[in-house]
Amino acid sequence: MSFMTPQELKQKLDEGQKIFVLDVREPLEYEEWHIPGSVNIPLSSVYAGAELPKDRKIIAVCLHGMRSERAKQILSMQGYDISSMRGGMVAWNSVYDITEISSGILQIRRVGKGCLSYMITSDGEAAVIDPTIDTDVYMQAAGKNRIAAAIETHVHADHASGGCILAERTGAAYYAPDDGQTTKHQTVSYGTAIRVGDAEIRAVHTPGHTPGSMTYLLGEFAFTGDTLFIESVGRPDLGQDAEENAGILWETLQKRILVLPDTTKILPAHYGSEIKHGLLISAALGELKRSLAALSMQKQKFIRWVAGNVQPKPSNFEAIKEFNKGLAELEDEELRELEAGPNRCAVR
Ligand SMILES: [Fe+2]
Repeated sequence: MSFMTPQELKQKLDEGQKIFVLDVREPLEYEEWHIPGSVNIPLSSVYAGAELPKDRKIIAVCLHGMRSERAKQILSMQGYDISSMRGGMVAWNSVYDITEISSGILQIRRVGKGCLSYMITSDGEAAVIDPTIDTDVYMQAAGKNRIAAAIETHVHADHASGGCILAERTGAAYYAPDDGQTTKHQTVSYGTAIRVGDAEIRAVHTPGHTPGSMTYLLGEFAFTGDTLFIESVGRPDLGQDAEENAGILWETLQKRILVLPDTTKILPAHYGSEIKHGLLISAALGELKRSLAALSMQKQKFIRWVAGNVQPKPSNFEAIKEFNKGLAELEDEELRELEAGPNRCAVR
């Protein structure tokens, strides 16, 4: 077979098959964003006669699937067992992995970009927190449950939201905090309760990453969006004053998050490392208090730490935000190009 779809590659990697993932993009492209475990040999080096393993299947990868197709042609003539991944890394961005958190709650993980969304089902209804534009994934995951609510934690800067699209496709109510959007949504504010079947999701206003950021509470679970991750906190500098909003984020963490019970399970909107099949991305708040130094810093030190760890901004974040706010209409294909790349919503 000369092509492999990104979904097929993911399945083979999950099964632990011996595969050599050959990324033929330029080193800078690779460093920015790649499939974990892949090896970077640019197309020019493939032309120059790079030595590759002969004892296993090679899958060539690039951004859109064109350079990898060329690498496949060259290497198959040299006797290698090689396929090209169809659609490249842009298509890899639409590969998902679903893990059950507890009965009726799913973590839906976009493996290429590390976006995490959640589905809560109760009594025939489903709510989706932070859906991406691959709305089919949620419709399939809902099964016979009616999707009754699409809920945003905040206006995202690193990926296009599927909230509006999912609401339109399913007739679900669309809930979002006030982050300057013009989208048709029901505004969530501190204390808003969203009912899904028998479950009641409660909103807590947790500003800092964005002015409107919400954390949603359901029993022992806290869906913290980009306020608190399990390896860091959300960056407060995207499109707003970093220092001022670092101070706001510190207040939020101290007064609205760290006051929750230590047993609270933190469920963030992103993960910055490899998403492994079957492994839930979550931690108890008590664990995070021990592992994340940022949570025990004094306010001024926290502000200095944030200022000293400013990362490059996510690619195209302004255009993505405009779309998510309802200020720009973009076609699906344009959105997928804008979104290509890693997530960069955390302070690192
Ligand atoms: Fe974000």
